[in-house]
Amino acid sequence: MNAFAEVDTPALLLDLSALKANLRWMADYFAHRHAKLRPHFKSHKCASIAKMQMDAGAVGIACAKLGEAEVVADAGIRSILIANQIVGPIKISRLIDLCRRAELMVVVDSPDNVRMLSGAVSAAGVSIGVLVEVDVGMGRCGVAPGEPALKLAQQVVSSAGLRFEGLQGYEGHCVDLRQETERTAKTLQSLKLLVDTRRLIERSGLPIHFVSGGGTGTYTLTGNCEGVDEVQAGSYATMDWWYGDIRPEFNQAMSILTTVISQPRPDLVIIDVGRKGFGAEWGPPRVKGIAGSEVISYTSEEHTKINVPHDSKIEIGDRIEIIPSHGCTTSNLYSEFVVHQDGLVRARWPIEGRGKLQ
Ligand SMILES: Cc1ncc(COP(=O)(O)O)c(C=O)c1O
Repeated sequence: MNAFAEVDTPALLLDLSALKANLRWMADYFAHRHAKLRPHFKSHKCASIAKMQMDAGAVGIACAKLGEAEVVADAGIRSILIANQIVGPIKISRLIDLCRRAELMVVVDSPDNVRMLSGAVSAAGVSIGVLVEVDVGMGRCGVAPGEPALKLAQQVVSSAGLRFEGLQGYEGHCVDLRQETERTAKTLQSLKLLVDTRRLIERSGLPIHFVSGGGTGTYTLTGNCEGVDEVQAGSYATMDWWYGDIRPEFNQAMSILTTVISQPRPDLVIIDVGRKGFGAEWGPPRVKGIAGSEVISYTSEEHTKINVPHDSKIEIGDRIEIIPSHGCTTSNLYSEFVVHQDGLVRARWPIEGRGKLQ
């Protein structure tokens, strides 16, 4: 019987052997390096995978959202970096609750946020680790490198309830550049800004415990850069085809199981998932086993058209597996991973972080 006969569609599949090979690859890579791995939870949002990453030697977990950090703490993981700014009294009050049951760190990039955090955290009688986020060229969050970062670090050091831990610099404008030479050159430029800022702060007499940055596309650069201590790669665990094209050392562990629901012509089939069921930021999904995304000619909310050979044997009711272009936004759409290995469904792992936008 087909391994997935009992699985309703669309379903998010996770190939356990592929996942384990990805985790092993990355763990081995960091095993004998100064820099350590702090996997980003936002990619899979699944506590079972986060625990496997910790068992494989990760120093802690990075999260994008406070809600994700709560899930990670619920899973018993202690060291959690929220790689984003936590702003406003509602969130800061939740942050304080979380501080009581995890070793929590957040990033800051403004004097106002530092004041807000310090006031609330010290009034509650707790303390929290803080990294100053440096904009290393992405132009998203982050204070400018050099003096502005030093100034903010000095403010953190003199703020009650805050422990200055170091810096975060995420080179998000480099991580998925298609050409390796360009990716390398731009990443090295970003890293120079980050490490020069670290040295400036250290020369001023403030100790830096760690500097964190990097992603799946740049782990070999950030992971080898003197002055960077942690790499926040996320996608490597489950992958997607966008990263797969530039990081072939990792396997496609995530796919979506779909059903053919219509065949208007012999060379065209329609499957039961569309844009509400996969992240398509980097293009339409690819059909597993068929190279190139051009076989998918159209996607709408709940439908995807797949061009098939004229004489194909595909029939209505058949199952087709597709691989999304963006895994992180895909995992956010499903409540569980259907975990399979050697042709058998082995488990269903909840995606506890799904929809944790707050
Ligand atoms: C702050 C931060 N760190 C690290 C990453 C790296 O994630 P990935 O390995 O999926 O590129 C991201 C991705 O969005 C991020 O926003």
